[in-house]
Amino acid sequence: MSQHTVDQSQIAGPGTANRPEWWRDAVIYQVYPRSFADANGDGLGDLQGIRARLPHLKDLGVDAVWLSPFYESPQADAGYDVADYRAVDPMFGDLLDADALIRDAHALGLRVIVDIVPNHVSDEHSWFRRALREGPGSPLRRRFHFRSGKGEAGELPPNDWESIFGGPAWTRVADGAWYLHLFAPEQPDLNWEHPAVDDEFRSILRFWLDMGVDGFRVDVAHGLVKAAGLPDIGAGDQLKLLGNDTMPFFDQDGVHEIYRGWRKVLEEYGDDRVLVAEAWTPTVERTALYVRPDELHQAFNFHYLGAYWDAEELRDVIDSSLDAMRPVGAPTTWVLSNHDVTRHTTRFANPPGLGTQIGTAGDVELGLRRARAATLLMLALPGSAYLWQGEELGLPDVVSLPDEVRQDPSFHRAHGQDGFRDGCRVPIPWTVSGPSYGFGSRGSWLPQPADWGRLSVEAQSGKPDSTLELYRMALTVRRQHPALGAGTSVEWLAAPAGVLAFRRIAEDGRRFVCTSNTTQEPVRISVYGQMLLASATAGIQVTESHVVLPGDSTVWWTG
Ligand code: GLC
Repeated sequence: MSQHTVDQSQIAGPGTANRPEWWRDAVIYQVYPRSFADANGDGLGDLQGIRARLPHLKDLGVDAVWLSPFYESPQADAGYDVADYRAVDPMFGDLLDADALIRDAHALGLRVIVDIVPNHVSDEHSWFRRALREGPGSPLRRRFHFRSGKGEAGELPPNDWESIFGGPAWTRVADGAWYLHLFAPEQPDLNWEHPAVDDEFRSILRFWLDMGVDGFRVDVAHGLVKAAGLPDIGAGDQLKLLGNDTMPFFDQDGVHEIYRGWRKVLEEYGDDRVLVAEAWTPTVERTALYVRPDELHQAFNFHYLGAYWDAEELRDVIDSSLDAMRPVGAPTTWVLSNHDVTRHTTRFANPPGLGTQIGTAGDVELGLRRARAATLLMLALPGSAYLWQGEELGLPDVVSLPDEVRQDPSFHRAHGQDGFRDGCRVPIPWTVSGPSYGFGSRGSWLPQPADWGRLSVEAQSGKPDSTLELYRMALTVRRQHPALGAGTSVEWLAAPAGVLAFRRIAEDGRRFVCTSNTTQEPVRISVYGQMLLASATAGIQVTESHVVLPGDSTVWWTG
């Protein structure tokens, strides 16, 4: 028998209720439309493809789907450059497909969250095209950050800000004016001081709420307001400061007023719609400001994502995250991977200190072992958890992509030294063989590795030791055991160095313990009850008095 089989009798519980604050402990699965499933055989995923694969998400046991942007877009940044927020890009389908997808998901009991991109638009957005056409001083230009340049002939950018994707954050247009873009030049930043911008986004929220969506993931939520006067930074390597220091274009206090307005819009639709912030801030305390009771409901916990597979580091970030959220009453969130970072299998296959975007495979087996253990740890914590498509298959990053197929604009702007985001965006393998392993009927927009079939949903389904079955079992247990995902704190238990052990006691008195060994060596620990689930497929020894926990593994206990 597999070591991680679930004993259902130990976990029978009430199941997930359809309650208003469903998001507090929800497991939310991120779908990247261009890489999930391709129904029309053009090599790019689409909404019909996602619809056809919704049963996979239902079987997996997640509560909600978050869809990365599928709006009309020239795709300069894979859809995070939106030309029309109320239209679906033809490469993904149309509004009828979006409607059908939302209805199908709801029929399966899955909530739907869509992405909203308020910091910038595409340079093909009608506002920006008109702003260029109407020239300096025109009303449309005031919806963006247009400035004169420095230098004798205005030939230098208005300030020293650098784009997150590399190079200056300013581009000069034909009439000599410069406009600000924190990301690619094709993504001009909006001026949130302008009332038309605020009105427009509240109207866009209503458009999608009327379509039936359950919430929004707010892209670059920390970027909308810029410090008055757009002051120089004056520091050397600005990219190194991101997320660690206060920058004049990120995490400005003024941004919170915007979200108070958005919260009111959501509340017009009842109390079960949710806003989740993508906010990279210097501290968890600053992140907590975004989820005060009258603002957004959740924020991604990038401090957790940035932690390595290391007991001390993890315990610190778990404690500080829970402590920071408790006073504002928001649930803590947990996330290990998304479309902007190297998959955690590959991060943990490499030594610590390389950051969240790395281009080397490392020790693949070690990475997978740790990733499975890290997932069980994450899913045991109080709060909501976000999964990135394909992590349930244990997919590694594809580090071997040739430069010419890479599409991440940051790769090209950073001259290949950074911008490894394509590696986690390679289309999902669904079947053992066939064109693009079931992703579509013809190829895929990024080449899949030759051994991708063995990692497919088909290959792993029904195999007790597979990563897919581990996720399915973990999510079954989580839905049924009232101690998982609930509450706002954990009780740490004494454990050997490198081991994390915490207990949670559910309101009905049922107990749950999670033990994670982050060292590579087996360790002896006390017995905490009956084993529910283990990330390791071999090596666990349980006696009356003690347990041997294999290196890089997590075990769940109950009783
Ligand atoms: C967010 C998105 C990322 C995108 C950037 C610009 O960070 O997650 O993919 O490139 O915003 O929109």
